[in-house]
Amino acid sequence: MGVTSRMPSGSVRLIDLPVVSDPRGDLTFVEGCNHVPFAIARVYYLYNVPVDAERGGHAHKVLQQVVFALSGSFRLKIDNGLEQSEFWLRNPRQGVLIDRLIWREMDAFSQGAVCMVLASHPYDEADYIRDYDTFLRAVRDSSCL
Ligand code: TYD
Repeated sequence: MGVTSRMPSGSVRLIDLPVVSDPRGDLTFVEGCNHVPFAIARVYYLYNVPVDAERGGHAHKVLQQVVFALSGSFRLKIDNGLEQSEFWLRNPRQGVLIDRLIWREMDAFSQGAVCMVLASHPYDEADYIRDYDTFLRAVRDSSCL
């Protein structure tokens, strides 16, 4: 994984999970409220993603998530309404914590890539912001500046 531009401050950061390695292979584990800063309410994963597909294209009002590439690789584009950054995820023990009010897009999936997401809440369509201008207004309204 690499950060190819400035990271938005405060709202997005890397999460490194433990690994137990021996000659039989590597084992990584994750505990809610320990390795990720929330109780894990939901896990979902993307697979069979066409290499030219684009996923995401939304933000969340409340939801926090951590995104991992369990297999293969993909690009995660992040936008906090002020600045953009991108991550190339390819390490199954290193994820990206995405706070609320962060616009995210994913693309450039490698063949056979598997994206796993740990989420702080159950699925709720009402928590999505799927329109970019609405997202920018929500960021502005939540700012103390
Ligand atoms: P969406 O979150 O828009 O996918 P992505 O961000 O990867 O492009 O979800 C796609 C569809 O799947 C949408 O109709 C909602 C549904 N969905 C659920 O029913 N439960 C879930 O936990 C998730 C993440 C999505």
